[in-house]
Amino acid sequence: MKTDIETLDWNVGKIYQSRDKEGRKTVDEVFDQATLKHIQQLFSRGIIATIENIIATGKEANVFRAKTFDGRNRAVKIYRLNTATFRKLERYIEGDPRFRNSGNNPRERVFTWAQKEYKNLHSMSAGGAEVPKPYHVYKNIVVMQYLGWRYKPYPTIKELPPENPGNFLNLLLDSIKAYRNMKLSHGDLSEYNILNVREKPCIIDVGQAVPKEHPMYDELHKRDMKNMYRFWNRKIEQLNEEVFI
Ligand SMILES: Nc1ncnc2c1ncn2[C@@H]1O[C@H](COP(=O)(O)OP(=O)(O)O)[C@@H](O)[C@H]1O
Ligand SMILES: [Mg+2]
Repeated sequence: MKTDIETLDWNVGKIYQSRDKEGRKTVDEVFDQATLKHIQQLFSRGIIATIENIIATGKEANVFRAKTFDGRNRAVKIYRLNTATFRKLERYIEGDPRFRNSGNNPRERVFTWAQKEYKNLHSMSAGGAEVPKPYHVYKNIVVMQYLGWRYKPYPTIKELPPENPGNFLNLLLDSIKAYRNMKLSHGDLSEYNILNVREKPCIIDVGQAVPKEHPMYDELHKRDMKNMYRFWNRKIEQLNEEVFI
């Protein structure tokens, strides 16, 4: 099957053909041939119907807003298939018994990473933590609940600090407890990975989260809690550090 940007009947094709230079650059960067095939699979399997717009471009992944065939929004996180991504992820996969027999080449490791993010979202959600609902994972692509307006995602708490920090923090602590009950450490919990969803927290970016068996389980959680204390201490007077256990 021939798969290239021209033969794909969806909006990324439009972005590519448009004069949107930035958009074209991103399409080139994120959609290598393998990724194009993977997206094509998501279309033909009926998981998503269109890719609408780019939400975020990061070092390891890009996030898009997509639509399902019945018109619902989805967030689609596409990991880059390059060695930089692979290197960054390696130490979080190694030592995670859930992925003991996963592939060895860099590309397969990135697929494992997408699986890992999907599974982490699933467990955290099952434990009662507020995270985007996971819908699908295929190769280097994770499809999840989209949290935002039509053209932009809800802001992070870095961008829009909550109006009532005390209240917000209590909800956040409930979510942290919920994933701790599922024996997970987030590993990158900061003001950049918590969305302000109409004054309620939603934790994102859980690819690096590790289970209790992982050698970095305690260390990562300690670091997360330190980050949280640093952030919330500036927002809440006389905050007790002990709430971050
Ligand atoms: N489910 C989602 N709904 C809406 N926006 C999202 C969602 N997931 C991620 N984003 C947006 O994409 C950005 C990057 O996502 P993130 O998972 O943090 O990836 P990275 O590893 O690049 O930091 C977030 O800051 C947020 O703006
Ligand atoms: Mg992030």
